[in-house]
Amino acid sequence: MTIHKLTVALDSRSYSICIGSGLTQYDETGDGGDSLLIPRLRGKDGVIVTNETIAPLYLSRVRKWLAAAGYQGRPVILPDGEEYKNYTTLQSLYRELYEAGLQRNGFICALGGGVIGDLAGFAAATYMRGIDLIQLPTTVLAQVDSAIGGKNGVNLEFGKNLIGSTYQPRVVISDVDFIETLPEKELLSGLGEVVKYGLLAGDDFISFLELNQTEIMERKSRSLAIMIHSCSRIKADYVERDEFDLLGVRAALNLGHTVGHALEKMYGFQKLPHGEAVSIGLVCALTLSVAMELLPESGFQRALQLISHYRLPAVVPEDADIDQMIELMRRDKKVAAGSGLSMVLLRGLGDPYLEDNVDPVLLREVLIKCKQPQLNP
Ligand SMILES: NC(=O)c1ccc[n+]([C@@H]2O[C@H](COP(=O)([O-])OP(=O)(O)OC[C@H]3O[C@@H](n4cnc5c(N)ncnc54)[C@H](O)[C@@H]3O)[C@@H](O)[C@H]2O)c1
Repeated sequence: MTIHKLTVALDSRSYSICIGSGLTQYDETGDGGDSLLIPRLRGKDGVIVTNETIAPLYLSRVRKWLAAAGYQGRPVILPDGEEYKNYTTLQSLYRELYEAGLQRNGFICALGGGVIGDLAGFAAATYMRGIDLIQLPTTVLAQVDSAIGGKNGVNLEFGKNLIGSTYQPRVVISDVDFIETLPEKELLSGLGEVVKYGLLAGDDFISFLELNQTEIMERKSRSLAIMIHSCSRIKADYVERDEFDLLGVRAALNLGHTVGHALEKMYGFQKLPHGEAVSIGLVCALTLSVAMELLPESGFQRALQLISHYRLPAVVPEDADIDQMIELMRRDKKVAAGSGLSMVLLRGLGDPYLEDNVDPVLLREVLIKCKQPQLNP
């Protein structure tokens, strides 16, 4: 078993991210999984927070794996879905923590995708003013993005992620075996973020994604592990430079997201999956970068090829109302303060920057252009 390990260096809040196959697989012969990856926690008792879909697949194995390291994990099984990432579910989770008798030295193990990670992470940050947290992400999106960096939270009826905090886990363990059972649409959703990391990081990682496209789409452990390791390193670098998102450094991670969020809001989160919205958003950011003569056509075509290789969408839907999109982009909470339009653009592949003075007339032309395919045959 090869374990790819990296450190998120944040002084006393530093932690490891471990990536590989079989990391949480424990069998009685003692082969397989490595429970020693769990750092020393303050106490022995905790809860495993997961959902109804993931529990039948992985709960029993994770309980055995924790037990092998000397920890008890009482299960808390939540309903599945973004619509349950709310205050009501959070309250029921607090009750479960209380009834489990969890003390200040207890821990939460978040076993699931970004929804479970965000909810359980916020509960860990706030219960008894903070208890230990282990992230066991089970989706590509969670392994490359949401489990890293400490952001957590729940939605309110008037907006997503409106309550939350930044609270780092003690360890992130990304077992790529979890990806085997991931529905295809969730795989693609995660790959939208992976392509984003390619565009942020540049040539080396893009070349890896180009060369290993078949293995990644076929979910081969070795390629998945290298891919997740690279993405984790890229995200960790941004987090290390701006842990609490105060300096604007982490803004680059929003490449593709300003348009993506506008599309999600316009079409509803169910109809247009996050990764697809981000992918279309990436194409819009790339097209604007070309229109502003920042990005050469060759880089643009290479990025479009990559998006098409990963079977991600690359055109703005024909019926999209462009003026409504621009209005939604203006209101995106992640853009800079003021009435200006901000977007992360590329001065070249691997060279992102935050443009906070986007010309709305040019943006309108670009969004209309993006309704047509732009990949050269
Ligand atoms: N905290 C952050 O920095 C951050 C970053 C990005 C996104 N997010 C949040 O992440 C959430 C989206 O996360 P997601 O895309 O992982 O979605 P998700 O957690 O809803 O998981 C997607 C679906 O896949 C199922 N699933 C998960 N793992 C599985 C597996 N191994 N096998 C079979 N089914 C599995 C889940 O039960 C769910 O139905 C959003 O709420 C978003 O706001 C947070």
